[in-house]
Amino acid sequence: MIYAKKICLFDKKVVILQRFMAKIGVFDSGYGGLTILDAIRRELPEYDYIYLGDNARAPYGTHSFDVIYRYTLEAVNYLIGKNCALIILACNTASAKALRTIQQRDLPRINEQMVNDKMVNVLGVIRPTVEAVPAITQTGHIGILATPATVSSESYVLELEKISRQLTVTQQACPMWVPLIEAGEHNSSGADYFVEKYIREILTKDPQIDTLVLGCTHYPLLKEKIEKVAKHIGVIAQGDLVAQSLADYLSRHPEYTSQLSLNGSCTYLTTENADRFSQSASQFLSSPIQAEHINLE
Ligand code: DGL
Repeated sequence: MIYAKKICLFDKKVVILQRFMAKIGVFDSGYGGLTILDAIRRELPEYDYIYLGDNARAPYGTHSFDVIYRYTLEAVNYLIGKNCALIILACNTASAKALRTIQQRDLPRINEQMVNDKMVNVLGVIRPTVEAVPAITQTGHIGILATPATVSSESYVLELEKISRQLTVTQQACPMWVPLIEAGEHNSSGADYFVEKYIREILTKDPQIDTLVLGCTHYPLLKEKIEKVAKHIGVIAQGDLVAQSLADYLSRHPEYTSQLSLNGSCTYLTTENADRFSQSASQFLSSPIQAEHINLE
């Protein structure tokens, strides 16, 4: 009897320890989410993070809803299994196609199965971006550069409409940009060609655009090239907007902050070759990293 009680106490201690060791998960189809992770870690360096890039199955942006939802849910489940209490979909495509279904259909079931007051939430990158844009534009004409899946979801148009009816929103799908970046070809003349092509197309659709939103977390790697073509137009990357929004969220949600551990660490996981990921990731981050390979399914 006494022995059983001891085991119980021990178990409880382990569970409580685990509860206070939760991390923040940051997920993207590939390297793009590193632009968000970098900004989040600058804003909130004290927390522990797990970055997961599904590089083996990127790009997501040309897939159907079903495939993007299934891949994203697999990643979310994996990160929950790694004790992440908060998961940021640092991918517009996943945020546009999978976030709502995961929040409404999967999270209630997942949270019901959690024990010892543990809770999990999944957040996206579109809402924090949309909230910042109306204050930036002068003409009220906004351009959204995104993957074909994000464009077809109309998420940016619908979310911006909710905030202000005065805005004119024009979208441009840029299907070649993510493959170029994933292949490490974003500094090539091929990238010049495709940057010029999509920027010309969107500015032909609406010449009054004064603000271009990089609605894909890979695109900051092309920001300089985009700015050269889109002269005198503001080009907005999402990193800082998402980081500030997460800081604000944490300050309002002690039920999550109380679960999170504070060692300032980050683990990098990829479904691709770990050495290739580690090498390419250094272009997105200020210091070298060593990633681990994992399988999703
Ligand atoms: N970084 C993802 C996004 O923000 C890229 C999606 C893809 O893999 O095509 O949309």
